[in-house]
Formats: sequence, structure tokens, C-alpha cells
Amino acid sequence: MRTKIVAGNWKMNNDSSATSALLQELKKANQTSNARRIVAPAFTQLAQAVKLLEGTTIEVAAQNMNAATSGAFTGEVSASMLKGVGVATVIIGHSERRSLYNETDVALAEKVAAALSGNMEVIFCFGEELSDRKSGRHFDVVSHQLKTALFEITPDSWKHIILAYEPVWAIGTGETASPEQAQEMHAHIRSLVHQQYGETVTTSLSILYGGSVKPNNAKEIFSQPDVDGGLIGGASLNANDFMAIVNAF
Ligand code: 13P
Repeated sequence: MRTKIVAGNWKMNNDSSATSALLQELKKANQTSNARRIVAPAFTQLAQAVKLLEGTTIEVAAQNMNAATSGAFTGEVSASMLKGVGVATVIIGHSERRSLYNETDVALAEKVAAALSGNMEVIFCFGEELSDRKSGRHFDVVSHQLKTALFEITPDSWKHIILAYEPVWAIGTGETASPEQAQEMHAHIRSLVHQQYGETVTTSLSILYGGSVKPNNAKEIFSQPDVDGGLIGGASLNANDFMAIVNAF
């Protein structure tokens, strides 16, 4: 059984007062779907978010972590530091980390391994660039990203992995993948994991779509058979929009 999930990646938005205001609104909002709700604030707001959301079903994730457990890594944060403030889920491999901070699939494989050995759940992001899609290489690019970053982990570890397919050309652009484009890629992803790991892993693997998901397109995207939810950027900064997407199932 695949879990429905809607996660909000706040990126570098929402200071302390904005975090408090948005979370108060989310706490009051009415949830009509049974999707898991996750918010991913900046590092500095994680402890605050965990405290504010105590006793609710809204979960908190981090947007990044370092592969090392401790040491001379100025500006970085480890899995155990995240666990220490009550955060058990981490986004790894977002396209902004890949393009702005040169994170490669090989480096991301190390982060995934570190997150798993720190008992964290991973939302692993990947997706092709516009040039890959235009030249018809999008399936190959995605296959390569997945194989390099994830195909060394044990079958059992997949219980702690959520995939998030985010075509780079759809992030923050207002241009969403069509429901058909999302479905064919999600089916491709599921079959790749199936080939490598088999039925048990695949049937419980949630694959999220990310890239300009909004209240007006969420329902159509989420109705695709291999789409199990969304990783939401811009629309997750507004409580009504985020909840409309959560309730789009
Ligand atoms: P937008 O929803 O703003 O396109 O961002 C998607 C994203 O990058 C989520 O991680």
C-alpha cells in the first residue's frame, strides 16, 4: 500500500514570525484527505516548527544534511543534529542543491547512506533538465540519477525512502509537466526500482511529483496511477493553497 504524501519545501523562505503564522494557519485548517502532511522549513526554524506542531499530524523535514556525522564542515548540519531537534525526515538531492552547490549523484549517495544509518527517512529528489527532455534523454538521465544515488541501498532501506520526481524545467516556472508526462515518468521510475528490487519494495514506494503544483492542477496530477503526492515549493508558503493541494486527493 502506497502512502499519499504532500510535502512543502519552503526553501529559504519564512523567518521566525512567518513560520509561526503559517503553521498556526495550517494547524487550524481542515484536512479532508488522508495524505501525510510534511513541511520543510529552513534549519533555523526546525526546532520552532517541531514545537509548534507538537500534538498535530503535521510532520517536519529538513531540506538538506551533510554526509558526515561530525567534524570540520563549517556551515553544515548532520543527521544526528536533525534527530536531536525532533526531525526524522530530510530532503536530499533537490535540483537547487545540485545546480547551485554542485551536489553530484555520487555525493548524494553518501548523504542517503548517512541519513539511513542515522535512522532518518529520505525524500530523494531528481529530474531532468529542459535540454535533456528536448533531446529525448529524460528517461536515461533519470535512470542514471536513481541508479547512482540509490541502487546500492538494501531492500529493507526502501521503507525509509520517498522519491520526488521534479523536472528542473517545471520548478518555479509555472510550467507543470502534463499529467501524462508525470505518469509516464513515474511508471518508468517504478519499473526501474521493480527491476532492481522487486515487488515488495515497489508496491509500498511513494513517488511524489514536484514542479509548479498548484491548487488548480493538483487534482489532475494526483489522479495519475503512479503519482502518490507532491513536493510543493511556492504554493506551500500559503496555508490555503497548501491545504487545497493536500485535499486534492
Ligand atoms: P515550485 O512548486 O515552486 O515549482 O517548486 C517545486 C520544488 O522545487 C519543490 O521542491
